[in-house]
Amino acid sequence: MNVVSLFSGAGGLDLGFIMAGHEIIWANDVFADAVETYRRNIGNHIVCEDIFLIDASAVPDCDIIIGGFPCQGFSVANTKRCEGDSRNVLYKQLIRIIEAKKPSFFVAENVKGILSLGNGRVAQMILDDFTKMGYKVQAKLLNAADYGVPQTRQRVFFVGVRNGTNFVYEFPKPTHSPDGGDGLKKWVGVQDALKILPDPDQPNDIPNHVYSNYKLRFNGYLGHRTIDPNKPAPTVTARGDDRGGVVVLHHPNNKRRMSCRELATVQGFPIRFEFCGNRSSVYRQIGNAVPPLLASAVARSFNAYGEK
Ligand SMILES: C[S@@+](CC[C@H](N)C(=O)[O-])C[C@H]1O[C@@H](n2cnc3c(N)ncnc32)[C@H](O)[C@@H]1O
Repeated sequence: MNVVSLFSGAGGLDLGFIMAGHEIIWANDVFADAVETYRRNIGNHIVCEDIFLIDASAVPDCDIIIGGFPCQGFSVANTKRCEGDSRNVLYKQLIRIIEAKKPSFFVAENVKGILSLGNGRVAQMILDDFTKMGYKVQAKLLNAADYGVPQTRQRVFFVGVRNGTNFVYEFPKPTHSPDGGDGLKKWVGVQDALKILPDPDQPNDIPNHVYSNYKLRFNGYLGHRTIDPNKPAPTVTARGDDRGGVVVLHHPNNKRRMSCRELATVQGFPIRFEFCGNRSSVYRQIGNAVPPLLASAVARSFNAYGEK
């Protein structure tokens, strides 16, 4: 099906839809480095512009609109999270475009924290807003590790099916479990996932295989935790610390931070997917992304409709 992508970033969500066989016909983001990354790896159909300035008539008709709307206002990683955060209004832009284009389906992705924000009032407001546009909406919290990603990243997916569309969306069933029980595969450990990469301190031609020398701390806080090499990594984040740097996970040897490439691998990006911009920008683009493997599981659930 034809897909329009909003808040596309470097294109993690989009890559998943492409892996599932769909075609992205138009995309948008305001972050110049992420747009350059997108153009280099995915395609030229992305427009670098503030969504507030995009006229809906400039957006092509499509079957699905997808968008991981900016989550800063919603995230539990943000200690100042509050319902009144002005960035929360960005999701209204997603609503504006969906309302204008009326695609058969939409997929909106966000952080887990959105479910508890305002004691659930924010998530309910979002569900109500989507429903009022004439869609049957389901929301589900998915753990990327359950779909083979070496990371226990939990994200909420809101899926809308336009009223009158003869299709019931079903969220993908997990393929992996923590211990490999129930006939599923075992969660992928971070050490195993990183085996494909050489040591970044040795000469290599792997793109973005550079790391931050930011000192390691082990105080249990986000980005300062001991990494268990045999388990999936904790959530890769794009959050900054109080000095404005990006929070970067420790490498499983717990002696240095992960390189950009290692974090991209933990997110499931292909090894030749090259990110543009300086190291902080690249870390941020990676931390912002939906793991392509998780996105492709969500996207594949639409394929039954395409085959009708
Ligand atoms: C959570 S990230 C999305 C990541 C993407 N879904 C992926 O999988 O790679 C949110 C994106 O929204 C973009 N964004 C924020 N404000 C915007 C605006 N006013 N107009 C367009 N894009 C915006 C940010 O630049 C960021 O790339």
